[in-house]
Amino acid sequence: MDQVDRSQWFYGILYGVFYDPLEGGHRSMISALIPEGCTVLDVCCGTGRLALDLAPKCEKITGVDMSARMLRFGEFLKKGSKASNVEFVHGDATRLEDAVDHTYDYAVISLALHEMPAQDRLATIRSMTRVAKQLIISDHSVPQPKTIPGYLTTLAELCFGGRSNFTLYNEFNASGGIVGALEQCGLTPENRMLDDKKIREVVTASGCSG
Ligand SMILES: C[S@@+](CC[C@H](N)C(=O)[O-])C[C@H]1O[C@@H](n2cnc3c(N)ncnc32)[C@H](O)[C@@H]1O
Repeated sequence: MDQVDRSQWFYGILYGVFYDPLEGGHRSMISALIPEGCTVLDVCCGTGRLALDLAPKCEKITGVDMSARMLRFGEFLKKGSKASNVEFVHGDATRLEDAVDHTYDYAVISLALHEMPAQDRLATIRSMTRVAKQLIISDHSVPQPKTIPGYLTTLAELCFGGRSNFTLYNEFNASGGIVGALEQCGLTPENRMLDDKKIREVVTASGCSG
């Protein structure tokens, strides 16, 4: 692996065992937007749970992430699932063209934009538009609702990500979250969906023409 490896302390086994199971409903929302037989690039795939969930209905899924620890846990889960159409690649989401060599039907990114510096966030979205026809972007909703789940989301960002991550999270909120980032990239948000607790949002946009 010649790429920079970037991991937070809770990435890998801890994330896979304790956090991933909490996001099942959110992954189902994303999965419902992807038709059978498509090719999918899961950008910032983490432990690859979404990629593995999509495996039975998709032709091919590539997960890209910069954390070797996340990807190692993904390879472990993949062995258990026996999915043969999922591959994981260590790579930088801001330069997806360096990590993959063809165009996908969909590029998906989940729960990653809020922890990126603004310039990486925009570079990632722009990079996604160059390697996929449709974008599905999912993250914390902005603004978070004034409810217990909403406050817990904010508290979790502070407690687990630490102060520097919390600064990025606040900047993500202040700049309008997913919709703000898409608009800064000159893209039009097409559909915006909220989960039942209104703490996660999924937004679609068009990418390249093929
Ligand atoms: C909070 S985790 C989300 C993982 C997964 N998508 C999910 O929904 O659970 C954020 C992921 O983004 C990855 N990441 C952050 N910046 C990245 C970058 N520039 N290139 C590739 N991966 C990146 C991290 O390594 C981490 O696995």
